[in-house]
Amino acid sequence: MARHGMMKLGMSMRGLGYHPAAWRHPDVPADGTLRFEHYAYNAQTAERGLFDMIFFADGIGLRERDEPRGSLARSGYELVEMEPLTLLPALAVLTKHIGLVTTASTTYNEPYHVARKFATLDLISGGRAGWNIVTSWSEAEAKNFNREEHLEYDTRYERAAEFVEVVKGLWDCWEPDAFVYDKPGGLFYDERRMHLLNHRGKHFQVRGPLNVAGMPQGRPVLVQAGASEPGREIAAATADVVYAAADSLQAARAYYDDVKGRMAKYGRDRDELKIMPGVRTIVGRTREEAQAKFDRLQDLTDPLVGLARVYAALGDLSGYDLDGPVPEPQRATEMRSSTERVMQRARSQNLTIRQLYKQIVGGGFYLVGTACDIADGMQEWFEAEACDGFNVLPPYLPGCCDDFVEFITPELQRRGLFRTAYEGGTLRENLGLKPYVNRHAAARAQSAAAE
Ligand SMILES: Cc1cc2nc3c(=O)[nH]c(=O)nc-3n(C[C@H](O)[C@H](O)[C@H](O)COP(=O)(O)O)c2cc1C
Repeated sequence: MARHGMMKLGMSMRGLGYHPAAWRHPDVPADGTLRFEHYAYNAQTAERGLFDMIFFADGIGLRERDEPRGSLARSGYELVEMEPLTLLPALAVLTKHIGLVTTASTTYNEPYHVARKFATLDLISGGRAGWNIVTSWSEAEAKNFNREEHLEYDTRYERAAEFVEVVKGLWDCWEPDAFVYDKPGGLFYDERRMHLLNHRGKHFQVRGPLNVAGMPQGRPVLVQAGASEPGREIAAATADVVYAAADSLQAARAYYDDVKGRMAKYGRDRDELKIMPGVRTIVGRTREEAQAKFDRLQDLTDPLVGLARVYAALGDLSGYDLDGPVPEPQRATEMRSSTERVMQRARSQNLTIRQLYKQIVGGGFYLVGTACDIADGMQEWFEAEACDGFNVLPPYLPGCCDDFVEFITPELQRRGLFRTAYEGGTLRENLGLKPYVNRHAAARAQSAAAE
């Protein structure tokens, strides 16, 4: 039976695209991540394609390593870019409907900062702000914030859970009707509608109130991207959207069922969370044309950049013949699961080093083909309840964003799988989420009803 409802779509427009050779593509502006017009153009294109949101992954440091030596200088991937919470308010002014979502770390921020900035983005954009909650994982980031190593896993997650509670509490400090602006009476706000947070926890002490209020969405949309046990639990308890990593339809279905199944114990309906795996799309008028576009991008991959992608698993292979077999790892004592996985792949397919790194560089969930092929793939996942939509990861920009909007959006619309106009005024409405009700206003309404 066909699934009712429509897909939700995000355009993940970080950098120059999600393929590490994107910057070398002839149609890609290599300096784009440092030029505002690049972001403005892609955001406006995604809005023309009626995307629910643009989405920025983010890191607060240069996380790629220079291994093998010299690879970083040839990579052009996640190197330098604009800071998204500064960028998004500017994009808000140039767009009207599309959601504006970015990542902010719970490890290297204070909750008050995050609550205040996203509340402000919600005001500037008229209700289109979303926060992708991450804990940050890299040593490179730790070194930018007074530490040698990143926080141990459990501490990071414990801090994240408390951080999110504090931010949500701060967003609720002012009830929606707190501000009476009574000029004749001389009263600016109603004291009964302002609530101190008075949070005292293990990681944070925050009194409040927040010095921003009146968010059009009640509060910004909460996005989560973590696959582990605690990550899934936070998603089920609090997230409005999950950005999921996708390997296969089967794995995506299992993840979908698992996370949605955890929601009931938090008193939430399955529909209150939208799960959106990442998908990389390359479209052509024919399959051959699409494949040629993909191959061209793959061929632009610098060997050192390719070798960097297998370094963690196999060590430095830069001294070997790239068109020869993948050597057995030297560090046998350190044989980890990733090493085993990569070697297994190389052996079973009899891959050369070059073929191996190309597979990894061009890996992830790719749909390459005509608009019909790509819509078929997306429809299959959606109807199998492996997702509620997708976070599109364009391999290079602006080309893959342009192509999606020109060819794939109309095909999805033709099939009744995607909107033909924005339904609502806010991101929350467009995602089909329930209006957010301030906790203090809800408690007051409840006690009034009980009297
Ligand atoms: C699809 C996906 C996207 C992510 N995006 C970011 C990101 O933009 N910035 C970041 O610091 N971490 C990002 N992460 C990392 C997670 O926030 C988290 O730190 C990491 O996945 C480890 O948590 P887990 O074990 O729960 O997956 C992402 C993870 C996934 C699965």
